[in-house]
Amino acid sequence: MFIVYIGEKYIKLTNKNNKNQKKLMWLKDSSIGRKFVMSISGLGLVFFLLFHGCMNLALVFSEEAYNWICSVLGANWYALVATIGLGVLVFIHFAYAIYLTIQNRMARGKDRYAVTAKREGVEWESENMLVLGFVVIGFIVLHLANFWFKMQFTEIMHMCGAEDFAVATFDTVYAPTDGAGMVKALFTTPIWGQVYCVLYLVWLTALWFHLRHGIWSALHTMGLNNLKWMKRVKVIGTVGATLAVGLFAIVVLYYLGYGIGMLLA
Ligand code: HEM
Repeated sequence: MFIVYIGEKYIKLTNKNNKNQKKLMWLKDSSIGRKFVMSISGLGLVFFLLFHGCMNLALVFSEEAYNWICSVLGANWYALVATIGLGVLVFIHFAYAIYLTIQNRMARGKDRYAVTAKREGVEWESENMLVLGFVVIGFIVLHLANFWFKMQFTEIMHMCGAEDFAVATFDTVYAPTDGAGMVKALFTTPIWGQVYCVLYLVWLTALWFHLRHGIWSALHTMGLNNLKWMKRVKVIGTVGATLAVGLFAIVVLYYLGYGIGMLLA
């Protein structure tokens, strides 16, 4: 009796495990599962961008307020946990993007070379998401070198005992919590500051196209794909991308004007 009971429990447990395993395999093995992972990770990144953009807006109103936010985040444990979470999200999104593209290409085989003319009704960005993604991530590396490396990473180094560790921005070393000082130096130093502003605007343009299609595609994958929602989701994509990118663009344009003003004075 006891053995039968244990046996039933075991079979139930293995069935449950098999079901859970199948669910997890679905996320990797089916095309819609892979798109689902891309959608969830992508939407998570959009929320990060909205948070980061709102935080940056403080720069336009008060440099002290911005530095206060930087010191609250800094290398505190919750900021470090958030950074690790963000890194995982970026990695998943990036790795799945490559995986999905390879799978799609293999599925289409030689046929993909057959179509050369632009397809009617297909937006340019939807066909160039991977390239746009590479442009965005390339600039992120430069951006992390400009700020994260000199702020959070420097604080981590100090915590590990490397008290002399410091990285300059155009010959001046700023305290790791002086985010406002670093942003201002990067964007307003004569000539290089204006070059950086233009580079950031190019980055933001690529990001806008990537997000516009990305938000639309994510909501579409998550079920908002009937005729009624088709147009609405397009509008949500455009508004969401403009909001996320607009918050950053305001800051860059503010410092571009500031820097040009300094040059002309
Ligand atoms: C006006 C434009 C921007 C400014 C002034 C800005 C400023 C900063 C600063 C000061 C940091 C360092 C924060 C710290 O380590 O405490 C940072 C980190 C970061 N930024 Fe930006 N940023 C801008 C745009 C962007 C954009 C467009 C993206 C993504 C597409 C982005 C992604 C990141 C990431 C991933 C980090 C690291 C976050 C972390 O450590 O958890 N930033 N940014």
